[in-house]
Amino acid sequence: MKNNFYFFLAATALLSCGPQERVSKETFEEVNRNMEVKRLTEAEIINEAMIWGDSITKEAQNQLITQLQQAIENQGFPGAIEFCQANATSILGSLGESHSVQIKRVSNRYRNPSDQPEPVEQPILEAYEYNAENGIKSDPNIQKIQNGEVLLYTKPIVISNSMCLSCHGEPGKEVSEGTLAKLSEKYPADRALGHRMGDLRGMWSVKLPKKEVVKRL
Ligand code: HEC
Repeated sequence: MKNNFYFFLAATALLSCGPQERVSKETFEEVNRNMEVKRLTEAEIINEAMIWGDSITKEAQNQLITQLQQAIENQGFPGAIEFCQANATSILGSLGESHSVQIKRVSNRYRNPSDQPEPVEQPILEAYEYNAENGIKSDPNIQKIQNGEVLLYTKPIVISNSMCLSCHGEPGKEVSEGTLAKLSEKYPADRALGHRMGDLRGMWSVKLPKKEVVKRL
């Protein structure tokens, strides 16, 4: 119940205090026209956004993990840290471009400061944190932002693989001296250490333009 209430609060806050960006009239009209021609309901659109967000984040995760494992094999953990710093953002950037969406990972315990949540993402991330702290399972979520022109898909990222702990676990225990040295060199303000299996690491955040979602139906 509390959880639902929290999400309700988050949703209300987002709808009322979302970024007041100007939306072009053409885009609205295009979406409305497409919806009318196909007679789509709001529920069908949200449902499709959920399916699409889910498949995009799975694809993104597969790409990151495959390339990360390759980097670990070739260069060991410290070398793989350099690989992540150089490539994580661009891998997500080009995947996002190929789908006409924006894909990010955000966290309040961020390693890369550019992975801090935006104001519109913060209450959703806090709801996931609240759930994690209270042992409540979190489902993916869709919020309308930018006057409903964009659907924000989010999904928790949990430490579910012991490999993650080699770079996000306890220093001196799972995180080796060499890895720690590389991390402090590359990320002097790192907040992403000290995690355990099952911890919330952050969340996926995918901005799906509504007109792209409508095209899929
Ligand atoms: C080789 C070390 C390494 C391993 C193993 C690793 N990470 Fe990371 N992780 C990093 C680095 C480095 C960054 C920062 C990347 C950047 O600068 O964009 C990062 C960033 C992240 C972020 C983005 C938020 C932030 O803190 O900046 C998430 C989420 C994340 N990792 C989750 C995971 C998960 C889940 C696993 C296990 C499947 C994992 N990582 C395994 C090194 C690692």
